[in-house]
Amino acid sequence: MTTTVHHPLFARLWVAMSSHETDHLRRLRAENLAGLSGRVLEIGAGAGTNFEFYPDTVTEVVAIEPEAHLVEHARRAAAQASVPVSVTEKTGEALADDPAGSQPFDAVVCSLVLCTVLDPEGVVRQAFSHLRPGGELRYLEHVASDGGLGRIQRAADATVWPRLFGNCHTHRDTESVIRAAGFEVSTARRTWTLPKWVPLPVSEFAIGRATRPA
Ligand SMILES: C[S@@+](CC[C@H](N)C(=O)[O-])C[C@H]1O[C@@H](n2cnc3c(N)ncnc32)[C@H](O)[C@@H]1O
Repeated sequence: MTTTVHHPLFARLWVAMSSHETDHLRRLRAENLAGLSGRVLEIGAGAGTNFEFYPDTVTEVVAIEPEAHLVEHARRAAAQASVPVSVTEKTGEALADDPAGSQPFDAVVCSLVLCTVLDPEGVVRQAFSHLRPGGELRYLEHVASDGGLGRIQRAADATVWPRLFGNCHTHRDTESVIRAAGFEVSTARRTWTLPKWVPLPVSEFAIGRATRPA
């Protein structure tokens, strides 16, 4: 099981990138978190870019992030957030060591992270088991595309992309993984963060809500 992540160069790049996001991506972050309430688990919080978008109906965010440099940034973002946020240095896979027990979460948030974890099936299973029945997984992930872009994604994944970008894989069928874990996807849509003709392998995003059946 993966318990540590050390991507110091990517971590610094991500801090720079996530502080210059487009308005479109910021709107998607807000949409992904809209209407949440109660206790939320955020997996792989990065620099804490989501924290400012949590609505004040959220009573507590328990964020995990395994990369030490990003943990520092996330803790700074947590201190500025308008809802209580704690940040723990931990992988999504390591949630298996920490059963939800009597304190399951009302929601789990994954954004731009299921492309990167070593074991996406295992991390989504952990998200499922840490939710209360009826609780929601909110996801915002770039996903596998069809056609020519899909071929570019497969080539990128087999060569330099994961090495350059902290193990990011561009051709994951993340929504199939979510369904296979037992979630029921209630709303989902695809959106493009760049014009379709731009051959960047991380252009097509899925945003959705998936429920752990009651
Ligand atoms: C592209 S960044 C996205 C960060 C954040 N979720 C966001 O939306 O800005 C990917 C994040 O996944 C984290 N990560 C990598 N492997 C992980 C794992 N096994 N479990 C949890 N997070 C992981 C990285 O350290 C990084 O913070």
